[in-house]
Amino acid sequence: MDFQIFTGNPAELTADTLVVTINDNGELSASAEKIDTASAGAVQARIKAKDITGAAGSSLTLYSLAGTEASRTVIIGGGKDNLNAVDANKIASAIGKAISGKEGTAAVDVSALATDSRPQAWWAEQIVLAVHAAQYKFIATLPGKEPTPALDTLIWIGDDVKDALTVADAKGLGTSYAKELGNMPPNICTPTYLADEAQKLSDAAGFTCKVYDEKEMEEMGAGAFYSVAKGSSEPGKLIIMEYKGAGDDAPHMIVGKGITFDTGGISLKPGAKMDEMKYDMCGAASVLGTMKTLAELKPAINVVAIITSAENMPAGDASKPGDVVTTLSGQTVEILNTDAEGRLVLCDALTLGIRDYKPATCVDVATLTGACMAALGKVNSGLFTTDEELATELNTAGAYSGDRVWRLPLEDDYQSLLDSNFADIANIGGPLAGATTAACFLSRFTEGTRWAHVDIAGPAWGGDGTSKGATGRPVPLLTTYLLNKVS
Ligand code: BES
Ligand code: MN
Ligand code: ZN
Repeated sequence: MDFQIFTGNPAELTADTLVVTINDNGELSASAEKIDTASAGAVQARIKAKDITGAAGSSLTLYSLAGTEASRTVIIGGGKDNLNAVDANKIASAIGKAISGKEGTAAVDVSALATDSRPQAWWAEQIVLAVHAAQYKFIATLPGKEPTPALDTLIWIGDDVKDALTVADAKGLGTSYAKELGNMPPNICTPTYLADEAQKLSDAAGFTCKVYDEKEMEEMGAGAFYSVAKGSSEPGKLIIMEYKGAGDDAPHMIVGKGITFDTGGISLKPGAKMDEMKYDMCGAASVLGTMKTLAELKPAINVVAIITSAENMPAGDASKPGDVVTTLSGQTVEILNTDAEGRLVLCDALTLGIRDYKPATCVDVATLTGACMAALGKVNSGLFTTDEELATELNTAGAYSGDRVWRLPLEDDYQSLLDSNFADIANIGGPLAGATTAACFLSRFTEGTRWAHVDIAGPAWGGDGTSKGATGRPVPLLTTYLLNKVS
């Protein structure tokens, strides 16, 4: 997408689509006013006729308005004063929908959105992300289906927010890439597939990429990772990508859970909706999506990305409840439930990553627990950390990007729920505080490192039936968080 900034009268602007806003009390924004004047009252006439109300995100398209140059003018409802997050998102999303799905040029004027005080850069980012979202369509396994036509040029009417537009475009690309990986069927999107994608992305972007296969992991002593991977005929992979944009600075590390299908293993899951466990690699997808964004923007930071990927299957050589394995850290784990496999592949990835890269900070993202989804639904991801500064940074990034997190406890009092009489740690903590005990488990492998865990079990995908799909979250969170580190 190309971007231009325009500061003149929108009525004189040549574009395929022009977007202006009106407010919920029927007032025109300054830009809608100019269109109304040029068209001898056409906008006011539509409001009077109740064709549009101004409710947040409502829209009305007028074609070839007399006195204006745009082929179509879309009037978007700007809602009431002091827009809340829900309404602001509705408006951005309505604008995204209005200007996508067709090639050509679209011009957007929210500079006069009188109901809101958010900076134009925020609107620019959200609208570009909304264009990417409206544009995204899964067609990889739908022969004959065509991609949605892509908008060529977005003209921003207002402040010079070109940087925000460019950054958002890269975030949108990364988010759509994460969606695509998440949606890909699990017979295609295997650990090997993720490793190939990481290699391709790295080759194109100049990242270093190293892939350990499950045998190497076993030989290295990563017994927890191996205990999950060994039950599948799809070989598990630990994938490490390194982006260097800041010389020898300690890197920021992101680690993604990449279970490309989670049957539960011998602790088999029930059959209903089991297809959704193809999304158990959405942490990995978001790490790849984040690296895609970094590849576009090449910011001045160092980032190490780790994807810990396996298929969790029941099999003759699968792990059994009661098995005890030795992790890369040397700590032993009693596997009481083979369905708590995410923490097993993550713990060795964390140990290896921290050992080999000594990161300044480490954030892992994982569809880790049904308990987290039960607590927070699909709105917020669960945030677990004892590092106040990291909590603030992630919270700030989540609030700004709309890819929100909600902090849940990670206190020592919960640690004893993981006690085992046969190993250093049990891999489950019983029925209470399931999201926290999962985080407690991971914390045993991150001591001494500034670390946060983000449980994305709720937000990673949504919808039902034919509307089901990956959301690409938390790419907006991770990219915003990492880019905020560039001074
Ligand atoms: N991938 C699941 C978590 C999950 C379930 C995410 C449903 C999204 C929707 C994870 O591997 C898992 O099975 N967790 C168990 C842990 C339990 C056995 C302690 C869970 O949440 O039930
Ligand atoms: Mn599981
Ligand atoms: Zn899982």
